[in-house]
Amino acid sequence: MKTLLVKYTPREERSNSKKLLDAFKNEIRNSEIEVLDLCNDVPDLFNVESMNAYIRRNYLKEEISNEQKKSMEKMDHMTRQMKSADIVVVAFPMHNFSMPATVKAWFDSIMLKGQTWDVVDGKYSGLMNGKKALVIVSSGGFYASGPMVNWEHALSLTKMEFQFMGFSDIRGILNEGMNAGNEAQSTNIKKSFDEVKKIAAEWYGN
Ligand SMILES: Cc1cc2nc3c(=O)[nH]c(=O)nc-3n(C[C@H](O)[C@H](O)[C@H](O)COP(=O)(O)O)c2cc1C
Repeated sequence: MKTLLVKYTPREERSNSKKLLDAFKNEIRNSEIEVLDLCNDVPDLFNVESMNAYIRRNYLKEEISNEQKKSMEKMDHMTRQMKSADIVVVAFPMHNFSMPATVKAWFDSIMLKGQTWDVVDGKYSGLMNGKKALVIVSSGGFYASGPMVNWEHALSLTKMEFQFMGFSDIRGILNEGMNAGNEAQSTNIKKSFDEVKKIAAEWYGN
């Protein structure tokens, strides 16, 4: 069994998302652990060359040149890495109501047709059945209820990406209200730590 921890936590030791991810990591039992730090290992963005290579190779099933293969190398590596894991945990702060661009670039890198999803009998079909995913998002404001509920596109979009890839068990923790004063912060992060431990206990049988 393998667990892949994917983090984008540029506030490093001060990051609440990192603290929650570390708490999850401490609870992992009987599993190989691999960490992908997206602050250091920044995913590629599609450019003209790599988009052309991707469409030719993955949609049109054409042979592509070595240079074209090279343009897809990092995306292919990140895709293989994600596919090698049974459990994927992603942790990051909400940025402008969504996932930070670096995290989106990781999803764009791994959501490759024919690798993690495909079209089967004319229908989109996720290929990642059997895998589990946990998404940990910290936000300054509140989105679970109140006037901002419709502004939340970080946790909801990330869960949807895993759903599209066919993950079987997808959990999410919105560690919200982190900039809403000390009281709200400490109450909410305590709740998030409890949720992290509960999910880890369920998944690793602690
Ligand atoms: C560039 C940037 C954009 C942000 N955008 C939002 C936002 O749209 N909504 C929100 O509630 N908080 C926003 N925040 C606040 C962070 O999400 C919040 O402080 C979070 O707890 C940081 O997570 P961390 O402790 O893991 O670093 C933003 C912070 C930064 C630096």
